[in-house]
Amino acid sequence: MVSAEPSPVVRASALHKSFRRDAETVHALRGVDVEVTPGEILGISGASGSGKSTLLAVLCGWETPEAGDLMHVGGAAIDLPWSELALVPQTLGLLEDLTIKENVLLPARLIKRTEEYTERGAELMTRLGIDHLAQRFPDQVSLGERQRTSIARALLLRPRLLLVDEPTAHQDHGWAEVVLASFRGYADDGGACIMVSHHRHALDHADRLLAMTDGVLGVPA
Ligand SMILES: Nc1ncnc2c1ncn2[C@@H]1O[C@H](COP(=O)(O)OP(=O)(O)OP(=O)(O)O)[C@@H](O)[C@H]1O
Ligand SMILES: [Mg+2]
Repeated sequence: MVSAEPSPVVRASALHKSFRRDAETVHALRGVDVEVTPGEILGISGASGSGKSTLLAVLCGWETPEAGDLMHVGGAAIDLPWSELALVPQTLGLLEDLTIKENVLLPARLIKRTEEYTERGAELMTRLGIDHLAQRFPDQVSLGERQRTSIARALLLRPRLLLVDEPTAHQDHGWAEVVLASFRGYADDGGACIMVSHHRHALDHADRLLAMTDGVLGVPA
């Protein structure tokens, strides 16, 4: 029996997004098509300012495209819980008033299932080397540790779709390996990941590569 190709968890086509400030208009996305399927890590490279973070912002519902279609299997992006869609933003997005542990467990707390996920949160913190920082606040840990906190938080509920923006930007080689292995394990368990990165080494861990050039996503040159 031939098994059917898995369906994409997100499918976007012809996305356009511009930013206007006074007389200036920046066309950050100029007709982007993208999709990712369960089990797959899609890597996206591209120069600084080419539109990579804007694409993730549109895919997660933070930004609204002016044109194009966006379909998540779980529903409208903005309404999706962390179990459907999780993001590791380039700016990490930790809540400064919560401890490292509370940040990691936040997705479970939002669905009132903290107790159920406490053990998994502890496992992720150990794997990502932040377990000893559990009671500290984000401004009391290093940038790399903050980033690994954001990654643990995103993985907590085993989301259907994981969007990660420069996930190794603040990691040394050893921790970059751990972070990338955690995405591989996530994808092998059926997750779908879009990873934006400048790092060749990180992109080597992707199953498929696309390149963003001035708001256009295509096959790398
Ligand atoms: N809120 C905003 N207002 C105006 N311009 C913006 C805004 N956000 C992004 N831009 C512009 O849109 C373009 C794409 O930005 P984006 O952050 O998506 O780039 P990027 O590929 O993620 O870059 P980097 O690799 O430096 O993170 C850039 O020219 C940027 O200056
Ligand atoms: Mg960016």
